[in-house]
Amino acid sequence: MQFTFVTLFFNLVEGYFQDSILKRAIDKNLISIDSLDPREFSTNKHHKVDDTAVGGGAGMVMNPQPLYDALDSLKEKDEHVHIVFMTPVAKPFTQNDAKRLAKKEHIAFVSGRYEGIDERVIEAYADEVFSIGDYILTGGELASLVVCDAVSRNIQGVLGNSDSLSVESFETPLLEAPAFSKPKNFRNIGVPSEYLKGNHSKIRSLKLELSECKTKYFRPEQLLKHRIRTSYEK
Ligand code: ADE
Repeated sequence: MQFTFVTLFFNLVEGYFQDSILKRAIDKNLISIDSLDPREFSTNKHHKVDDTAVGGGAGMVMNPQPLYDALDSLKEKDEHVHIVFMTPVAKPFTQNDAKRLAKKEHIAFVSGRYEGIDERVIEAYADEVFSIGDYILTGGELASLVVCDAVSRNIQGVLGNSDSLSVESFETPLLEAPAFSKPKNFRNIGVPSEYLKGNHSKIRSLKLELSECKTKYFRPEQLLKHRIRTSYEK
């Protein structure tokens, strides 16, 4: 999978791939990253990429020209590139999107800065538009990394143990049960005794109960989804 980051600040992005799982994925040629800087495409003599908003309003908006030219050059090189814009004005990104996007061959993330991107660019080039949550970041770079990370770990071979994909939160509507590592007693605090007894069917049913408790507390709407789904399965 090729990821292209269309950003004025690739420095913000690059560091994330210099360690741990995504570095290993690059070393194993499972993913690769590159960048495209809209500023390099600006025809303005000062390489300006933003301007005040037409119609007024606070802040600067990214001009269409540098982005049009940058994205045209990207599409000339790969007409099948899947172009994703990161903005708070969009559909919330989910685990299902991560799994679906993991099947693509080339994804480009377009990150806005300032007050946003001229809407004409989004209309002309976006295959999809995602928000990573109901808050405003200073730019789309962090949001692109979030999506890229979530997509990458769904690419075959990126995670060491592919089992870890199927049981985790959001593969079902329930949040994951709490996990514990060694020692079994730490500062006089133990782990649930059922976890220690080795009866896997009992451990499974305790984990389900704990999952339901966590979900009820943190994400009650997800518990409802789970109950509806399991009532159909009965
Ligand atoms: N850019 C700024 N805030 C964002 C958000 N919440 N999601 C995606 N892109 C963004």
